[in-house]
Amino acid sequence: MKRDFLTLQDISSDEFHAIVKRAAEFKSGKDRNACPLMGKSIGLLFDKTSTRTRISFQTGIYQLGAQPIYINSKELQLGRGETVEDTAKVISRYLHGIVIRTFAHNTIEKLAANSSIPIVNGLTDLHHPCQALADMLTIWEQKGTLKDVRLVYVGDGNNVANSLIEAALHTGVDLAIACPRGYDPDRNIFEYVKENGGKVQLYTDPEDAVKNADVIYTDVWISMGQEREAERRRQIFKKYQVNKELLSLAKPDVIVMHCLPAHREEEITSEVLDSPQSVVIDQAENRLHTQKAMLELLIQ
Ligand code: CP
Ligand code: NVA
Repeated sequence: MKRDFLTLQDISSDEFHAIVKRAAEFKSGKDRNACPLMGKSIGLLFDKTSTRTRISFQTGIYQLGAQPIYINSKELQLGRGETVEDTAKVISRYLHGIVIRTFAHNTIEKLAANSSIPIVNGLTDLHHPCQALADMLTIWEQKGTLKDVRLVYVGDGNNVANSLIEAALHTGVDLAIACPRGYDPDRNIFEYVKENGGKVQLYTDPEDAVKNADVIYTDVWISMGQEREAERRRQIFKKYQVNKELLSLAKPDVIVMHCLPAHREEEITSEVLDSPQSVVIDQAENRLHTQKAMLELLIQ
């Protein structure tokens, strides 16, 4: 049976931990020459721009012995009206897996329902599960544990926040989300995780939320596809900037995370992003290792 990775709910908590552990092994250089996906082809179907996701998947797939095929979806017949369903059925006959980055989450659900090969979510408007895998490896490296680490996400309750909420359920991370009213994370995801014992709390005041923070995390205020709302969003999110003053309210050894790309001087100051407390470049590197571990688990 093929396995998809559309959200973090598609894997068990044991599998989540196994991916983080295996990623650390890959990172240490163990199994440098292992090629578990030898001879396979994996498509990368992108509707949105990307630096980290695209390059880390291309490199990781190659390192696992498979061939990555980058596809700008505008160049497919999809762009001229061929349906997602027909496209999915046909490319399933050529490929062994597809990583897709798109807008509506429903598009990847449709792709998954009509494909006989694993579909991996490389970001939708609703979820960014590959990011959360790398984030948890990064926190584990920095703090030595995930359980009860106080992770405070400050800013927009977007795809990155939604996947962090699901990661909290798998890991026992103590997650606080501070966002303006009306910009909360997805209610269904939040309620599901809370009902199932995840430690997640919502705040509107970032200063309240960051008290005792081990990790402060932020993301852009204007996600891909929201460009038309840019000016309004800049006003609404103003007091949610991660800066020196906000950091001073957290634990002295707080670390700072950002999935990148960052809009410097908007959601985060350069002073903080470039400070020794910032682990954003390690975090970006960890995309490579965690995605390799996830693909090894999923692709047969
Ligand atoms: N963090 C992340 O997904 O970056 P890209 O948009 O560059 O892929
Ligand atoms: N929330 C951002 C994440 C980019 C990696 C976006 O969707 O644009």
